[in-house]
Amino acid sequence: MNQSPVEHFFLITGTTRGIGKALTAAALALPNSFVVSLSRAAPFLWDNRQNIRIDLNDTDRIGAAFKRIQMSRQQTNRLTHTVLINNAGVLDPIAPIGDCEDTLLAQNIRVNLTAPLILARHFFHFSRPFPGRKWIVNITSGASRAPYYGWSAYGAAKAGLDMATRAMAMEFSRIDATFTVCAVAPGTVDTAMQEKIRNCSVQQFEQVDKFLKLKDSGALASPEHAATALIRLMMNGRFKNGGRYDLRELKW
Ligand SMILES: NC(=O)c1ccc[n+]([C@@H]2O[C@H](COP(=O)([O-])OP(=O)(O)OC[C@H]3O[C@@H](n4cnc5c(N)ncnc54)[C@H](OP(=O)(O)O)[C@@H]3O)[C@@H](O)[C@H]2O)c1
Repeated sequence: MNQSPVEHFFLITGTTRGIGKALTAAALALPNSFVVSLSRAAPFLWDNRQNIRIDLNDTDRIGAAFKRIQMSRQQTNRLTHTVLINNAGVLDPIAPIGDCEDTLLAQNIRVNLTAPLILARHFFHFSRPFPGRKWIVNITSGASRAPYYGWSAYGAAKAGLDMATRAMAMEFSRIDATFTVCAVAPGTVDTAMQEKIRNCSVQQFEQVDKFLKLKDSGALASPEHAATALIRLMMNGRFKNGGRYDLRELKW
């Protein structure tokens, strides 16, 4: 493994595809970066890239995952940015809540809300001894603010994540002013999640037509565009502590 000093350390969840995969590439493009992903893919470690295998449904295993991060103490001396991006997300179950399975409802809240909170808590303790600035970026959604028929668990989890962002921003920065906690909505991005939405029946998801039209009109952003915008805006200090941002509304 590369033992040279790290300037930009990223811990990113949900990196097997979509926005998380593009965020990993954008983070790796920064000088002297080290990117650790938490995903359900096979574990690996080479050069400045590590994957730790974890199903974020197993929230009891999150703390142990931090102990597997392969960055030596000497490598952390020159850190300028230490970043957690809570990106992994799941839409299922997509249906009016009366038709949803109990297990899927519980899993949705675990992956979209419980896991990011536990990750943020461990990241706070993990990163505090490091020099430089620390960021926790929670990936939210327009569904945190407007109810969508058929997305009750997803909308509730993202609304909870927005509120948790504001609370953690107060708490962490009061203890340590080097922390910034914010929420970022990526806009409508051309990923497997959007494909899943377009494949819904109207009975499952009333607004399916709106999403079919967005795809047909070429209105979806690419994951690479969303990821590059997010990393650039963060590095340029555009995200303030406790803020909630929509990438579509920001110039970069
Ligand atoms: N795409 C959009 O238009 C849009 C809009 C608003 C917000 N968002 C948010 O953006 C984030 C990324 O979405 P996306 O569009 O890139 O979705 P995606 O293509 O469906 O990718 C979701 C990622 O989350 C991972 N994941 C899901 N459940 C997991 C679990 N239990 N444990 C570990 N990893 C898990 C998936 O890994 P596996 O391969 O293992 O399933 C995958 O890497 C999500 O938080 C989503 O809510 C997306």
